[in-house]
Amino acid sequence: MLCIACVPLTGCGAEYVQSSLSPSSDLAAGIDRLFQVILWIAFGVFVIVEGALLVAVVRFRERPGRAPPVPTHGHTLLEISWTLAPAVVLILIAIPTIRTIWEVDRPPTGEAMAIEVVGHQWWWEFRYPELGITTANELHVPVGRTVDLHLSSADVIHSFWFPRVGGKRDLLPGHETRLWFTVDSAGTYTGQCAEFCGIAHALMGMRLVAEEPAEFASWVERMREPATEPADSLELAGRDLFLRSACIGCHTVAGTVARGRQGPDLTHFGSRERMAAGMRENTPRNLAVWLRDPPAVKPGALMPSLGLSEDQIGSLVAYLGSLR
Ligand code: CUA
Repeated sequence: MLCIACVPLTGCGAEYVQSSLSPSSDLAAGIDRLFQVILWIAFGVFVIVEGALLVAVVRFRERPGRAPPVPTHGHTLLEISWTLAPAVVLILIAIPTIRTIWEVDRPPTGEAMAIEVVGHQWWWEFRYPELGITTANELHVPVGRTVDLHLSSADVIHSFWFPRVGGKRDLLPGHETRLWFTVDSAGTYTGQCAEFCGIAHALMGMRLVAEEPAEFASWVERMREPATEPADSLELAGRDLFLRSACIGCHTVAGTVARGRQGPDLTHFGSRERMAAGMRENTPRNLAVWLRDPPAVKPGALMPSLGLSEDQIGSLVAYLGSLR
């Protein structure tokens, strides 16, 4: 029995980056409070029902020489009780549920920062219209300030979900949805597309970097600067290659002729922690593997294998890594 009890307990104690049970925003906290209320009501119902069952099993069990218990028919008090009890339980659940729905549905006030989120097969685009910033897969937000997300999709239905920050919100082609929340503690949270959107759905991850206001402000400043100039001949060769090949048809590097919108904005690619929508750490080695054959890393990726030589890959890796 003790061994069986230990099995679920092994799940306790660890820090789960994608658990809605450790809320880090007002929205997630509201949802978590509701979950706790319903959990304890359900636990009470469980104890009462299972307790009654056990009492019945023990008290009315068959004993030698004892007549079977008399069955009950048409007991008015009993029938009223078991009709009323579930109604009371439903009311107890409905009150906090409706209150939470109203709470999370109240639109944010003028202080909120607007961010446009666009879902693509299979990556995330984040635009800050008031700040003039566009980035991909890593959403930076200031702690303590409400962010007002305007979500849409460039292709199929996706779903935006950071379990520690709030509930899911679908991204629909041709229709804008909204979601707002205020993150209350600094940290990096991971999120995931939560609506099946094609072959690489499971690889459509993202990160939310919540920073103290001063840190966020310096991130904004860095993001608003144009792309870094090449510092050596290798980076220069990479930039020349980038700007005269197919890359510019799909990617933007601010301040250059690369203004494509199909793929992620690469202006500050080197400053991102992860690449390929959170799949891999952003290291020169992983980037080289990606450039050799993107669909081999992420099946279905729109970026084809460009047939680059190892020298060309080396210079592109140096250039893209320098874009900080
Ligand atoms: Cu996008 Cu699943």
